[in-house]
Amino acid sequence: MKVLSVVGARPQFVKLAPVAAALDAAGGVEHVIVHTGQHYDSRMSDVFFADLQIPEPDVHLGVGSGSHGVQTGAMLAALDGVIDEHRPDWVLVYGDTNSTLAGALAAVKLHVPVAHLEAGLRSFNRRMPEEHNRVLTDHAADLLLPPTALAMSHLVREGLGERSVVVGDVMTDVCYRIRDAVAGRPPVLPEGVSADEGYLVATIHRADNTDDPERLAAVVAALADLPLPVVLLAHPRVVARATEFGIGLDRGSLHSAQPLPYPEMVSVVLRSRGVVTDSGGLQKEAYLLRVPCTTLRTETEWLETLDDGWNILDPDLSRVRGAAVRDVPTAAQGTPYGDGHAAERVARVLRDRLPGPA
Ligand code: UD1
Repeated sequence: MKVLSVVGARPQFVKLAPVAAALDAAGGVEHVIVHTGQHYDSRMSDVFFADLQIPEPDVHLGVGSGSHGVQTGAMLAALDGVIDEHRPDWVLVYGDTNSTLAGALAAVKLHVPVAHLEAGLRSFNRRMPEEHNRVLTDHAADLLLPPTALAMSHLVREGLGERSVVVGDVMTDVCYRIRDAVAGRPPVLPEGVSADEGYLVATIHRADNTDDPERLAAVVAALADLPLPVVLLAHPRVVARATEFGIGLDRGSLHSAQPLPYPEMVSVVLRSRGVVTDSGGLQKEAYLLRVPCTTLRTETEWLETLDDGWNILDPDLSRVRGAAVRDVPTAAQGTPYGDGHAAERVARVLRDRLPGPA
């Protein structure tokens, strides 16, 4: 079986890690990795391949940044030749970025079967570029691999149930593995922040929070006003917008730092009192690492994290000051994201559902 993975943005490298390992372990699989170049900074890309032992990409498209149309279009144009040359049994796309949509669209146009990992998530917020990417990719794909029962229910409602198999969440596979590997390792913290005195971890990168100067100023002011030091792991997008709007990212409680490699990020979150974010992945990682999370958005795709107050939505920034430092919930957690073996299931389902000759 030949599988061609299309990845390009940071969270996709994390998802690729367990999948690449499981495809390798399954035996008899040729796995071609295509990196679109959507994320190109070494801290957003290379360190993930190195730390998570992902094989080097076989093809690098070097597309880089641009408006959604320009970026997605450049990927589409470049992917045509690559998919045509490799003619895999599956093009495997991950999550909800512009790289996901481009991979799915390029493959479906060439009549190459497409599998979508992390299918069926919905925010029902049509303003989010990720929501367009998810819905369009799910409806283009031949095989949908939702992570949860809830994601599966969305697909069933959209008439896609027969093409869908719940596999669990591959990010859980990596998160548990790295949590165990970094246990006991002291977190790498910016000057002035100490694990013993307590700290919070924050990330902000969604367009709705970063691209409007008033909103970004309000978000930064709310973070700066939190009652504990805040380690702001600053995505290039928030740095770029803050610089453009003249908003300082080091004031009050805020200590800004570069984005961290995955193991360091897990270790910083593990020792923190709480997470404040608009990232999808980090909401779930906080849940898996049993750290309270406050999400600065109107909705979440990972609804299960809201159970028992592990995650709280605070779109208008009115609750974050108290919520960010709330105690760890006492209720036992379920296992909505699977058992840490989702990637093995992905490898199995890809083989079981291998399309026959047309
Ligand atoms: C993308 C995904 C988002 C995901 C996020 C993870 C889409 C629509 N969005 O958002 O779902 O949560 O990745 O990080 O695909 N930049 C750099 N260096 C880089 C990458 C980006 O400087 O290596 C800057 C550029 O100014 C760029 C901006 O960040 O214009 C945004 O990058 P882009 O890849 O377009 O979207 P993200 O915000 O990273």
